[in-house]
Amino acid sequence: MRLLVTGGTGFVGSNIVKVAIERHQASVVTTSHSWRGDGSEPFSVVPVDMTNPVALRAAVIDSRPDAIVHSAILNDFVRMYADRSLAWQSYVESTETLVAAANEVGAKMVLISTDWVFDGAQPAATEKTPPNPINLYGVLKVVGETIVTSTANDGAVARVAGVNGTHWLRDDYVAAQNPGLGHFIGAVVNGLRTGQPFAVWEGPLNMVGTPALASESAEMVMRIIEKDRRGIFHCTSGATVDRMGLALATAAAFDLDAELLTVGPGDFSGTGPAPIPVDTSLDATYTSDALDYELPDLDRLLATFRHEVDHAELLPV
Ligand SMILES: NC(=O)c1ccc[n+]([C@@H]2O[C@H](COP(=O)([O-])OP(=O)(O)OC[C@H]3O[C@@H](n4cnc5c(N)ncnc54)[C@H](OP(=O)(O)O)[C@@H]3O)[C@@H](O)[C@H]2O)c1
Repeated sequence: MRLLVTGGTGFVGSNIVKVAIERHQASVVTTSHSWRGDGSEPFSVVPVDMTNPVALRAAVIDSRPDAIVHSAILNDFVRMYADRSLAWQSYVESTETLVAAANEVGAKMVLISTDWVFDGAQPAATEKTPPNPINLYGVLKVVGETIVTSTANDGAVARVAGVNGTHWLRDDYVAAQNPGLGHFIGAVVNGLRTGQPFAVWEGPLNMVGTPALASESAEMVMRIIEKDRRGIFHCTSGATVDRMGLALATAAAFDLDAELLTVGPGDFSGTGPAPIPVDTSLDATYTSDALDYELPDLDRLLATFRHEVDHAELLPV
């Protein structure tokens, strides 16, 4: 299978690329924006700015993929609010361009989306629960989702949520706590390993969710493609947990001192003016059945992540 991944150089995208190559023997082309490799990578790289529709379409036409996974984002909330045209181009118009190009070459189109399409008061939202975003990021994602589900000849939306795990392409990646539940497990591990207290944030931020491990979400995305599924999917775990519960489970799974966990105020400096959804827990039962995939519980998610941290490899299947 020939796969084009936009944002394959990012955190989630690097997992899609790695899982596609190592577990699914895919031939992968990824777009890059700031990332530069050394040419030894087991995939092809096309420098593309996704806000340039001509270059983005050309990447599709030139690579003739069987499937496109659109994972690239403008991951800067403050900039999104400061430059809403750029935000629209990055999220909405890039998706329009990719869907049109996918239709042109007969490729499947998968958009990576988010649990933040929900308002934070829709616990255990299913794939069929109507979204109700409360910030610009969520709005832009819902618009992208709608473009895919209504205009792609063969389209799917893969919502990921509170993504944790390994960035396989950036040695300088450091997981840091943020208003979402993504990167949180790594932040707790990094914090507790210093032997210093680690303050788990509280406040009107994403306090409850159904976190994912990026490599597991990547496996689910590959199954969407290989099983030729269409529609909306929740590519996350089967475990709903609150922020402190996730911190405690992380300490146990990584043999770290849970006594060092404290509670402290959240840092909202990077989120822009709009609110953060508080409970973005997801139900992924439909997805699990559709993909014939057993959702990881928290123990399995943490054990798999620990294997990645300890061995710098995907958990052998
Ligand atoms: N992380 C989470 O917890 C989480 C939760 C829910 C949903 N998601 C979704 O997962 C997807 C990936 O997020 P992530 O966490 O992996 O983000 P990330 O690590 O910040 O990666 C962003 C990617 O987008 C690329 N990119 C940025 N600006 C670009 C541009 N103008 N043109 C082309 N490419 C550009 C970057 O390329 P370079 O590296 O080459 O600069 C990078 O590959 C997004 O759709 C996001 O909404 C993530």
